[in-house]
Amino acid sequence: MKPASFDVGKIRKDFPMLAKTMHGKPLIYFDSSATAQKPQCMIDSIQDFYQNHYSTVHRTIYESSLLATKKYQEAREKVQKLLNASKIEEIIFTRGTTDSINLVAYSFGKAFIKPGDEIILTQIEHHANIVPWQMMCEDRKAVLRFIPLDSQGNLKLEEFAKLLNSKTRLVALTHVSNAIGTINPVHEMIQMAHAYGSKVLVDGAQAVPHMKVDVQTLDADFYAFSGHKLYGPTGIGILYGKAELLNQMPPYQGGGDMIDKVDWEETTYNVLPLKFEAGTPLIAEVIGLGTAIDYINTIGFSAIHAHEQELLEYAIEKMESIPQVRIIGKPKEKAAIISFIVEGAHPLDIGTMLDLKGVAIRTGHHCAQPTMRHFGVPATARISFGLYNTKEEIDHFIIYLQEIIELLCASP
Ligand SMILES: Cc1ncc(COP(=O)(O)O)c(C=O)c1O
Repeated sequence: MKPASFDVGKIRKDFPMLAKTMHGKPLIYFDSSATAQKPQCMIDSIQDFYQNHYSTVHRTIYESSLLATKKYQEAREKVQKLLNASKIEEIIFTRGTTDSINLVAYSFGKAFIKPGDEIILTQIEHHANIVPWQMMCEDRKAVLRFIPLDSQGNLKLEEFAKLLNSKTRLVALTHVSNAIGTINPVHEMIQMAHAYGSKVLVDGAQAVPHMKVDVQTLDADFYAFSGHKLYGPTGIGILYGKAELLNQMPPYQGGGDMIDKVDWEETTYNVLPLKFEAGTPLIAEVIGLGTAIDYINTIGFSAIHAHEQELLEYAIEKMESIPQVRIIGKPKEKAAIISFIVEGAHPLDIGTMLDLKGVAIRTGHHCAQPTMRHFGVPATARISFGLYNTKEEIDHFIIYLQEIIELLCASP
C-alpha cells in the first residue's frame, strides 16, 4: 500500500526534465529502465562540488581535498546502507553494472576458474551479463550453461537444479529482467547454488531502483548495479562483493590508488576497496550518487514499489484491452517494465510515432537478443516506469497508441 504521504505531483516537480516538451507535446518519459531522470538536488550537488569544493580525494592535506574526501567516503557509506552490506570495504566503485560484471568475470576467473569448471547463466540476461562470461570461459577453458525460461518468462528452477553440480563455480543471474520485467527468485536460487559450493553474482541493474535490496539477507556473493538507473549520474556503478572473496581476487586494473608499494620489479596492492579502484576516482559522480540515494530515502522503497506496481497493473489492463497489442511474457512476479508488440506494425514505427507525440519509449532487442529469440520476436516496444510516472500519462499513452494502431494497421 502506498503511504498517504506519497505525492507524485510533488515528486515530479523535483525532476526538471519532466517539465520539458518534445515535438511540442509534454514529455511522457517511459524509459526509466534504460536510464532514469535526475532530481534537481542531485544535479545541484554535482554543480556545487565542481563550483565550490572541487579537488581530488585521498592523499592530500589541503582543506578542499579533505572535504571532497569526506563527501566521497560518506557516499560509500550511503551505498553500504542502501544494500545493507556488512562492511564498507565491500563496496567498490566502478563505471556501471557492465564494468562491475567485467571486473568479477576477469578477477574471479583468474582466481578461481580452471579448465572444465562450469558457469551458469540464465536465458533472460542482458548482454552485459552474458558476454563477459563468454570471454572469461574462453580464456579459462570453462563451460557456460544456461537456465531455460518457460513460455511466460519465468526461469525453470527444476532445470536449474539439474544444471548444478560439483563443477559449478559461479551462477550469474539478473535480479530483474530488463527485457520483460521478470523478478527472479534470487534468494532461493542463491541457496540452491550455495548448496553446491557455487558463488553467485546478481545483476541488480533493474532491481535496485525499484525495491529494497539486502545483500546479507539474499546472501549474494556479488551484487552489481548502475547509478544512472537509480536517479544518479552516468558513469558510476557499484560492485558489492563479500570481503573474503574480494580479498582472494587479483586487481582488475593497475595504476594509482590501488597500490601499496611500487618498485621497478614488483608492486604490492592496497587493501579493499581501493585494490579495485585504479586511478583518480569518479569523485563528482560518487557524490551525485550519494545525493540520489538521500533523495530516494526521503521517499522510501515500499512507497516506490507500491506506486510502480499500481502503474504496472493499470497499464497492463489498458493495453490488454487493445486487440492488436501483445504483451511479451507474463511472469509470476514482474517489475514495472512492459515489452509489447503490435500485430502488423514494427516496434520501431511504434516508437517513432509515439516520440512525435512526446512519449519516450525504447524499441529494439533491449540488449537481450537471446531472450527475444526465446519469445520468437526480433524486437519489441518497451515501456518502463519510474517513481515519477502517473496514471494520467498512461491514459495519454493508450490514446496515442490506439491512434497509431488505427493509422498503421488500417486495412487497405
Ligand atoms: C539488467 C541489466 N544489466 C546490465 C545493464 C548494463 O548497465 P550499464 O549499461 O549501466 O552498465 C543493464 C542496462 O540496461 C540492465 O538492464
